[in-house]
Amino acid sequence: LTNFVSVEGLTNDEVMALITRAEAFKQGKAHLELATDVYAANLFFENSTRTKSSFQMAESKLGMKQIVFDPQSSSVKKGETLYDTLLTLNAVGVDLAVIRHPQNKYYQELLNLPANSHLNIGVVNAGDGSGQHPSQCLLDLMTIYEHFGHFQGLKIAIIGDLTNSRVARSNMEMLTQLGAEVYFSGPKYWFTEEFEHYGQYLPVDDLVDQMDVVMLLRVQHERHQDDANEAQFDAVQYHAQYGINQARYDRLQDDAIIMHPGPINRGVELASNLVEAPKSMFFQQMQNGVFARMAMIEAVLRGRKLGGLN
Ligand code: CP
Repeated sequence: LTNFVSVEGLTNDEVMALITRAEAFKQGKAHLELATDVYAANLFFENSTRTKSSFQMAESKLGMKQIVFDPQSSSVKKGETLYDTLLTLNAVGVDLAVIRHPQNKYYQELLNLPANSHLNIGVVNAGDGSGQHPSQCLLDLMTIYEHFGHFQGLKIAIIGDLTNSRVARSNMEMLTQLGAEVYFSGPKYWFTEEFEHYGQYLPVDDLVDQMDVVMLLRVQHERHQDDANEAQFDAVQYHAQYGINQARYDRLQDDAIIMHPGPINRGVELASNLVEAPKSMFFQQMQNGVFARMAMIEAVLRGRKLGGLN
């Protein structure tokens, strides 16, 4: 891979190779020796704690060097485009750009460059609008695989703010491709036609005791400016109707797990006292994020023959 912008197009073998490599990094069985300096810049045009810090950690663990980029104090504020920003960073020596951006498929213009373009930088997508979140998908797949050892036939419910969720889109595509059965729940107005292709909608109470994985999505209020339902949103009511409370937690199968990409709205998607409950995998997800991202970056470094890798 010379860029890593989406999980679309990855084969099951490629996904499994990335998971295996991430596990090897996690277990200390794999190390990279970069023969030359490789510079990364992390460009986050939307807020992030997990993704940004774990990409930074992954780059450090791979022996890369980082150039700090802060959109707020950058010339983006003077109107410089993403393309021109990357041209600049590339010109000063940055080899790899990890980008989070509010615009869906912002990366397309960066992949389809005109022949005379000077830009030669690897792009890793850290989330584009409501489009894709490939690194979250990979760390989620790694976490599920660690727990179950396979994907085939697993029943996985994705519950919540589907419409706005790049996590849901990446995960429903890859989980289905890997042989899992995907179900959806949450407010019905977020279950639009595109999701019907991947799985059935069922009420939360019909799902909890049937699922191997309950994947909760954050209610993304910051993306609800045009959502007619936002004015009526009631956190207490949401929790009662769609959240995992103690009663629903108690109905989960013995081996079932709960996942959430974070940040969690405590008391909304999940009762606050269940955040650190035994079936809650959030800490494994966050930890695995470092190693999944190491595997993703390594694939791009090898694809670009950076750091003396091939
Ligand atoms: N899961 C996730 O993308 O979290 P952050 O927004 O904190 O990076």
